[in-house]
Amino acid sequence: MARGDSFETLAIHAGQEPDPLTGAVVPPIYQVSTYKQDGVGGLRGGAAGLRGDAAGDPAAAGTGWVDGYEYSRTANPTRTALEECLAALEGGTRGIAFASGMAAEDALVRTVCSPGDHVIIPDDAYGGTFRLFSKVHERWGVSYAPVRISDSAAVREAVAQRRARVIWVETPTNPLLGIADLSTLSGIARDAGALLVVDNTFASPYLQRPLWLGADVVLHSTTKYLGGHSDVVGGAIVVADAGLGEQLAFYQNATGAVAGSFDAWLTMRGIKTLAVRMDRHCANAARIAEMLTAHPAVGQVLYPGLPSHPGHELAAKQMRGFGGMVSFQLKAGAEQAATVCARTRLFTLAESLGGVESLIELPSRMTHASAAGSPLAVPDDLIRLSVGIENADDLVEDLRQALG
Ligand SMILES: Cc1ncc(COP(=O)(O)O)c(C=O)c1O
Repeated sequence: MARGDSFETLAIHAGQEPDPLTGAVVPPIYQVSTYKQDGVGGLRGGAAGLRGDAAGDPAAAGTGWVDGYEYSRTANPTRTALEECLAALEGGTRGIAFASGMAAEDALVRTVCSPGDHVIIPDDAYGGTFRLFSKVHERWGVSYAPVRISDSAAVREAVAQRRARVIWVETPTNPLLGIADLSTLSGIARDAGALLVVDNTFASPYLQRPLWLGADVVLHSTTKYLGGHSDVVGGAIVVADAGLGEQLAFYQNATGAVAGSFDAWLTMRGIKTLAVRMDRHCANAARIAEMLTAHPAVGQVLYPGLPSHPGHELAAKQMRGFGGMVSFQLKAGAEQAATVCARTRLFTLAESLGGVESLIELPSRMTHASAAGSPLAVPDDLIRLSVGIENADDLVEDLRQALG
């Protein structure tokens, strides 16, 4: 793109040329379901995006219309702008925006798998992902096996044993913050004829670009860092292969879990500041991890930025920063952990993550409660922090008082 392709610039401009009709510098919210056509069956081409304006298409001369829109489940200009932006940020050929991260996950599995296929998932996957595989896709005939995804040899063996169709990776994982070696896993997937799917929600494309490391598909809960303000639920898939992008867009239209135009607009608005927010998230999380490590009430601290973290060197290699998520355990156990969660004043007790405000939660009873009693159950005394971009001293002080 003429304006330069550095991340910060793409985040603000990719897919978001000034509105061809009005010159508005931000893509408007096209709150519309259907579009006037220029004749029966006369729609020209597919969704062309905000840049596919009449000026570039002789057939549309004189109409002043942005070309290619027919019905907003199929395509909507605000959603197209977001999808183009996401594709640019992840370095993929196509982005597809969904109503939630879970809708994106479901669409992906239903598109790339068939009954009888097998999927490797992280043994500490997000609880909702585990629930999707164990309660929905398994009934449809897709089996799954939880594997320690930071152990590349274990993944290789599991893939070979069951001839897996998909290696599903989170890195860092939620909530144990394990780090997977994306280059090695992409080689394993390629050798086995499997697809490497990376849920990049925790890192965001600012910190990590899995497609550059050989992944086939990147998936996001855009609800988190991409949206960034805890005011929208959304999901997205970005693919390297254009043919797979076509198939996913077909599935999206056929089943309809699309991102609405207002949600797409909010997500794009959030993305514009992603780079500066992530820098602050990383700096604040590093401060907090350091404070927790030195605190007498705290046992283990999980943060990839700590040199003691087993994935530290790998994270330093494949990520631009270590992220804003920190998990830790208390020496005193689960009940005390629940008490700490109830005592913070600035950290809000809430699920979700990636917003500007700091959140605290107990995964075993909240985000990962659906994994209780399964191989994916998380330690019941584990506290997870989503470190926001408030003043770092204020955050440290709040945790200190909550820890007593
Ligand atoms: C890593 C990860 N992936 C996917 C999801 C699901 O996304 P959503 O809540 O937008 O459906 C979440 C939600 O917390 C998540 O943390």
